[in-house]
Amino acid sequence: MIKNKNTQKVVLITGASSGIGEATARLLAHKNLRVVLGARRTNKLEAIVSEIRKKGGVAEYRALDVTSLEDMQAFVDFAKHQFGRIDVVVNNAGLMPLSKLEMLKIDEWNRMIDVNIRGVLHGIAVALPIFKQQQSGQFVNLSSIGGNTVFPNAAVYCATKFAVSAISEGLRQESTDIRVTVISPGATQSELASTTTDAEAAQWVAKFRELIIPADAIARAIAFAIEQPEDVDVSEIIVQPKG
Ligand SMILES: NC(=O)c1ccc[n+]([C@@H]2O[C@H](COP(=O)([O-])OP(=O)(O)OC[C@H]3O[C@@H](n4cnc5c(N)ncnc54)[C@H](OP(=O)(O)O)[C@@H]3O)[C@@H](O)[C@H]2O)c1
Repeated sequence: MIKNKNTQKVVLITGASSGIGEATARLLAHKNLRVVLGARRTNKLEAIVSEIRKKGGVAEYRALDVTSLEDMQAFVDFAKHQFGRIDVVVNNAGLMPLSKLEMLKIDEWNRMIDVNIRGVLHGIAVALPIFKQQQSGQFVNLSSIGGNTVFPNAAVYCATKFAVSAISEGLRQESTDIRVTVISPGATQSELASTTTDAEAAQWVAKFRELIIPADAIARAIAFAIEQPEDVDVSEIIVQPKG
C-alpha cells in the first residue's frame, strides 16, 4: 500500500457498485484514502468493501439512491458519523439508455435526468454546506465526451452531461475554497451500455464501444485530481481510448 499525505482524506463515491465507481473506490483505498461507497445494489457494495478491507484499506458502504435527496443526506451523514469529516464527493452514478428522440422513450429520458442531473445536484446540495464550513472540499463530477459533443441516439444523455459540465463550471466560479473537477471519459469498460433498451441504438453503441479502456484508467484520472495540492483545481480531464 502506498503512503502519501492524502492518507486521511474521506472520499464519498456514488454509483460505486460497478464500473468507474468501483474502480475508483478500489484505487483510492489502495492509496490509503478512506472511501465510502454508495449505490442501490448493496450486495455488490458489501463484496467490494470486504475485498478492500482484506487488502488493508479503509472502506464503508451504505445503500444510496441518488434521486432521493433524503437518501443523499443520509449517505453524507453516515460518512460524517463514521469518519468525522468528508473531503471529496465523487458524483459518479449515471445511466445511459440511448435511443433516437423519435422513439419517445420518455421514461428513460426522465430516469437520465433524475440520476445524471438531479443526482449530481443532490450530492452538491448535501455536501456544499459542509465544505463551506470546513473552507475546503472537492466535487469530482462525472461528465462524458458526450458533455462536449452531441452524438445521434444520445441527445438526452448528452444533454444531461452538458448539464453536469455547466453546473460544475458555475459551482467553480462561485467558490473560492472548494475544488471542482469534471472527469469526461470516452468509451470505458463498465455496465453502462447495458442500460440501452432500443435495438438500433444498442447496435450503434456496441460499434462505438469497440475501442474501449479499462475503468481503472478513469480511476487514475480521479486520483490525480484529488492528489494535487489544495491550491490546484484540476478543472477537467478528458480520458478516452487511443485511436
Ligand atoms: N463507461 C463509459 O463509457 C462512460 C463514458 C462517459 C461517462 N461515463 C459516466 O461514468 C459514470 C459511471 O458509469 P459507469 O460507466 O461506471 O457505468 P456502470 O458500471 O453502469 O455504473 C453506474 C453506477 O451508477 C449506479 N446507479 C445507477 N442509478 C443509481 C441511483 N439511482 N442511485 C445510486 N446509484 C445509481 C449503479 O449502481 P446501482 O445500480 O447498484 O445503483 C452503478 O454503480 C456515469 O455517470 C457515466 O455516465 C461512463
